[in-house]
Amino acid sequence: MKVTFAEARPQGAYALALPVWSESMLNERLSGLDENARRLAARAAEAQRFEREPAAIAETFYAEGESARRLLLAGLGGKRDDEALFERVGGALTAKLLTSGETRLVIDLSGLDVSGEDAARIGFGARARSWRYDKYRTKLAKKQKPSLEEIVIVGAGQGADVAWQRRSALLDGLFLTRELVTEPANIIYPETFVERVRVELEGSGVEIDVLDEGQMAELGMGALLGVGQGSVRPPRLLAMRWNGAGDANRKPVVFVGKGITFDTGGISIKPAAGMEAMKWDMGGAGAVAGAMKAIATRKARANVVGICVLAENMPDGNAQRPGDVVTSMSGQTIEVINTDAEGRLVLADAMTWAQRTYQPEVMIDLATLTGAMIIALGFEYAGLFSNDDQLADRLTSAGAASGDKLWRFPLGEAYDKQMDSPIADMKNAGPREGGSIMAATFLQRFVEAGTKWAHLDVAGTVWANKPGTLYDKGATGYGVALLDRFVADNYEK
Ligand code: BES
Ligand code: MN
Ligand code: ZN
Repeated sequence: MKVTFAEARPQGAYALALPVWSESMLNERLSGLDENARRLAARAAEAQRFEREPAAIAETFYAEGESARRLLLAGLGGKRDDEALFERVGGALTAKLLTSGETRLVIDLSGLDVSGEDAARIGFGARARSWRYDKYRTKLAKKQKPSLEEIVIVGAGQGADVAWQRRSALLDGLFLTRELVTEPANIIYPETFVERVRVELEGSGVEIDVLDEGQMAELGMGALLGVGQGSVRPPRLLAMRWNGAGDANRKPVVFVGKGITFDTGGISIKPAAGMEAMKWDMGGAGAVAGAMKAIATRKARANVVGICVLAENMPDGNAQRPGDVVTSMSGQTIEVINTDAEGRLVLADAMTWAQRTYQPEVMIDLATLTGAMIIALGFEYAGLFSNDDQLADRLTSAGAASGDKLWRFPLGEAYDKQMDSPIADMKNAGPREGGSIMAATFLQRFVEAGTKWAHLDVAGTVWANKPGTLYDKGATGYGVALLDRFVADNYEK
């Protein structure tokens, strides 16, 4: 589905959407229509209890020449305090029309006094909500297939084109992430993840480096290799570097994503029910890849490195056992109490490598790390852990502004000592209570002196069991808008 901007409504067939702020505005917005059409619209609003709530829609048809046109009144609410309002309106319109049979939608903003940025936001929401992945559905009936091909936004304020370019880059990244997260684990595994991303970033200016098992062994990445050793699919570490600051020596912002392409739990195997969800245990890595695409596509004026640590966690004759002791790249030893606490193991080595290779300005990891995160926060917020208050505040703000919301959790000595092991430097799993904090505390042991670090536990936010305003059921693309916004607000000045 494409989004275009125009001065005036086009010729030909289309559905018409009129966003409205207020009751009095309703009449004004309908003033282009004849008496009959206005009466129909007013009655439709009343009959559908349309009170212009944000993203509410009332629908009717009116006679237009020989034919009839579908008219959608879209609520904007009473005030504009919510940054995401226009995105939600766009998303709601697409949700309504995507498979309706309409092929074109005109959203007329004339006279609304909205900025070009707001108009681009409507387009963003509309296109974000249109994404679906029908690749494996060979028997979709015509009625189930999307019909909506184009959205024309009329009367956008100044600067809509520039704002749209940015949003469009963000959508490219978002869609890459959703695709990676949606693909099953027989299609996307460490090697194919790397290849898919390589193709997607071709010509973008992003430099790609990949470590294989041999190189990991040389570097002493025993924690990462231990997780991958039960799988016939070898692990990979993918590094994507974008140098946009104009000064290659400026320290980069570094993102590290957990990329377990399937998590069975290993020998500490998970129950069968719902295990298929663990194909999206690479949601952190997916978000990092998508963010790199967005950042490079819009040519962000910042140095950013994205690292995806990729492995498959399988039970096998060669899999690691509970009780095994592994030596991480940092030199610290880990007793593997539970092979299902594998995310923190792969991240430990990826974080050590990231710090030693790039001397990050800040290092932020994203991981579907703990089920406990979903118990704590549900599906609305991701958890934030950090050793730096300014970094935590900046991430929280970027989260609020982008719609990828974050909530901060504590770290500290009292939690940390519960990760001590009687046989090694630490164990990989502590008590169940405060499980997400235990995991974050483990990761913190791999943060080197002077590194500003944040950990985002995105277990509850990368996949949705019901449709949201900007996504259908399935992969949400959580994290892409957040990271893009975080870079834009803090490192491009
Ligand atoms: N990938 C899971 C966490 C997860 C669970 C994400 C459900 C999304 C939905 C992670 O590898 C895991 O298995 N964590 C364990 C840790 C425990 C063994 C200490 C968990 O949360 O149960
Ligand atoms: Mn696990
Ligand atoms: Zn996992």
